[in-house]
Amino acid sequence: MKIEGKEYRTIWFENNVVKIIDQTKLPHQFVIKDLKTVRDATNAIKLMEVRGAPLIGATAAYGLVLAILENNDQSFLNKSAENLISSRPTAINLKWAVDRMMSKLSGVNSDKILEIAQSEANEICEEDIKFCENIGLNGLKIIEEIYNKKKDTVNILTHCNAGWLATINWGTATSPIYHAHKKGIPVHVWADETRPRNQGANLTSYELNEEGIKNTIIADNTGGILMQRGEVDMCIVGTDRTLANGDVCNKVGTYLKALAAYDNNVPFYVALPSSTIDWNIKNFKDIPIEERNSNELSFMDGIDKDGNVKKIQIYPKKSKAMNIAFDITPAKYVTSIITERGICEASQDGLKKLFK
Ligand code: MRU
Repeated sequence: MKIEGKEYRTIWFENNVVKIIDQTKLPHQFVIKDLKTVRDATNAIKLMEVRGAPLIGATAAYGLVLAILENNDQSFLNKSAENLISSRPTAINLKWAVDRMMSKLSGVNSDKILEIAQSEANEICEEDIKFCENIGLNGLKIIEEIYNKKKDTVNILTHCNAGWLATINWGTATSPIYHAHKKGIPVHVWADETRPRNQGANLTSYELNEEGIKNTIIADNTGGILMQRGEVDMCIVGTDRTLANGDVCNKVGTYLKALAAYDNNVPFYVALPSSTIDWNIKNFKDIPIEERNSNELSFMDGIDKDGNVKKIQIYPKKSKAMNIAFDITPAKYVTSIITERGICEASQDGLKKLFK
């Protein structure tokens, strides 16, 4: 998608270097960062220079390519894979991508391993783009249906950033929105700010602006009253891990939005590529939920009147803060799941029909 009119992907490989858009700098600065070692890739995931479930998976895949370039030795590769998997615990795509790479590379001769690793990492990215595009085409039907009834702007609420910046291109939750916009359907997005890291304000609103899509940032607690007033036609979010029974783990705050949507008969959709499905965990209580440093709550970045980016403390110095990063929305609150293969009920049966 576009930034200042120029097409970008979120990650690419060039001259043995992985290039990323440093998302900790957005929206005030646009910085392309070089990752030269597997440690750089692991840190980029930890520090959230790259974030979003599909993108951290792709970064980990390229991280293994960097590991091979640094030291073409099996034990270094194994250790690098372990470090990458543990760099963030909740999004299943990370382990999915590392496992896929490691199984592709298993038993491969050291003179061929680099070429195969590079081509598999590229393939993970190409596949994600195709899947996200298909999610968009499938989700477009839902937006079209609402528009055909309403004959007026479709108001869509989203939480966090499940946009193209969270994937390689298109996004998951935003892909149907981009497709609707390209088709000339008038859409307007309510972007939840998404405290504490403000992915909704800093990333979703930013990327929608760059594509010319109308949007309004709202404080995280505003969705409820908007739904009561009939100002939300549908909600659509992404996910970091979806269980085979349709329970959805996504950025903290998603659950409360789903409850409000349920109470107000607003349809609540979750858009996901199949790489986000965890077929093993049966009970959502077993999903590892990331808890991040509380400084992410008590400090905020902003830009002063001279254009300088500043970090300021916003809480009392003596106060304790807690920063749980994800929550779970039980399947009963999810209207449907939108995948690359089609739309299904958020249930074991629904998912099984699409993914035999
Ligand atoms: O902590 P983040 O910013 O990595 O969390 C991202 C989300 O929660 C997204 O909604 C999710 O990864 C889906 S991305 C297509």
